[in-house]
Amino acid sequence: MSDIKMDFSYSGIKQEDIQEYEKEVIRIHESFYLKEKYDNEFLGWITLPTNYDREEFKRIKNAAKKINSDSDILIVIGIGGSYLGARAVIEALKSPFTNAISDDESKYTKVIFVGNNMNPNYIHDIIEFIGDRDISINVISKSGTTTEPAIAFRIFREFIESRYGIAEARSRIYVTTDKHKGALKQLADEEGYEEFVVPDNIGGRYSVLTAVGLLPIATAGINIDKLIAGALAAQEKYADSNLKYNECYQYAVIRNLLYKKDKNIEILVDYEPRFHYFIEWWKQLFAESEGKDNKGIFPTGAEFTTDLHSIGQYIQQGRRNIFETVLNVEKSNFDMKIKSDEDNLDGLNYLKGESLDHINKTAMQATIKAHVDGDVPNIIINIEELNEESIGSLIYFFELACAMSGSILGINPFNQPGVEKYKTNMFKMLGKPGYEQK
Ligand code: PA5
Repeated sequence: MSDIKMDFSYSGIKQEDIQEYEKEVIRIHESFYLKEKYDNEFLGWITLPTNYDREEFKRIKNAAKKINSDSDILIVIGIGGSYLGARAVIEALKSPFTNAISDDESKYTKVIFVGNNMNPNYIHDIIEFIGDRDISINVISKSGTTTEPAIAFRIFREFIESRYGIAEARSRIYVTTDKHKGALKQLADEEGYEEFVVPDNIGGRYSVLTAVGLLPIATAGINIDKLIAGALAAQEKYADSNLKYNECYQYAVIRNLLYKKDKNIEILVDYEPRFHYFIEWWKQLFAESEGKDNKGIFPTGAEFTTDLHSIGQYIQQGRRNIFETVLNVEKSNFDMKIKSDEDNLDGLNYLKGESLDHINKTAMQATIKAHVDGDVPNIIINIEELNEESIGSLIYFFELACAMSGSILGINPFNQPGVEKYKTNMFKMLGKPGYEQK
């Protein structure tokens, strides 16, 4: 099942406040489907679950099969939207100890990520981790010119070519980039690497359900049919422009209402450590989409109960400009009971027979109550179980909510002009041709 249910009863926002946005939401919703806007303003993700390229989807599955048969490790090179989505899905759906399982015991290729920073220690550690194991590379960059993945690809291309020779290396390199342009596209054409496409009308942070995310995800052994099916269920469910029945748009409106009440920090909270990178993906989605024109909610994350012992104090009693959105998985995939202990020296016998999931959920309810009492509004987003369908649905839910929320805020949720600033400075300092005078 992939159904998402939102509960805003702890947010302090009333249904009638939300309904004030009824007309504006319809106007924005309709604009998402206007042909010119759809084609030119990076809205392709909105119908991707029905419109995706079936032929490419098959090639993705075949490539994943080949990688599973000839490689112990897939090195995925990318940053930002060309990195976080794949990692978020893989880490949500696989054991955190997957990469520690021996190659003989693991059925699927291990997926590791590089090109998401420029730290030499990190690259050194990855090369040590690879050792003499068999590898393939999936380099992902929509622009094909981003410095971090370009540097990583130069290093690992040399590595794979010296390990296998140029001809075999070619069959182990997969490139995901723009259909027509960019340095990476040109390189892939010249070398004859297998190519996958980041569609023109889908921006990086909205691209996880394209080849950008799907090839690494499929290689990790995750069922991408089910992932897309979950996204499709969400696409159908949230295509309703009527705010009264559309919880995705309600979430977008509630965020704006809270922002108007000076709640300008949103913490996405989970009680499931597997969501760590899902939160990272969500942070990028909302920060790059909304943080512009001196506006926007600052999106951050917390893992409870872990972080209740660190930033919990601030949330409870610090500046009152925070609200929380809690990601709740109703039914844990695994559970266990607390056993009775004859000596009871740890004093835990009062919990005997309780399930750990129940204790975790009780901590959640207690925390929601404490934070709401401390003037931190809470929104709860419930999914039934952690599986491919629910993750597909959540991805779609947040992408659509982000597009609606940013549009209500009055900014363009599909560009990221501010990201260029550090690059210009860096290129000038490094002496990149053309940047001397800037
Ligand atoms: O969301 C975005 O557009 C960015 O985060 C990009 O994904 C990121 O900068 C990487 O860009 P590219 O895929 O062009 O290398």
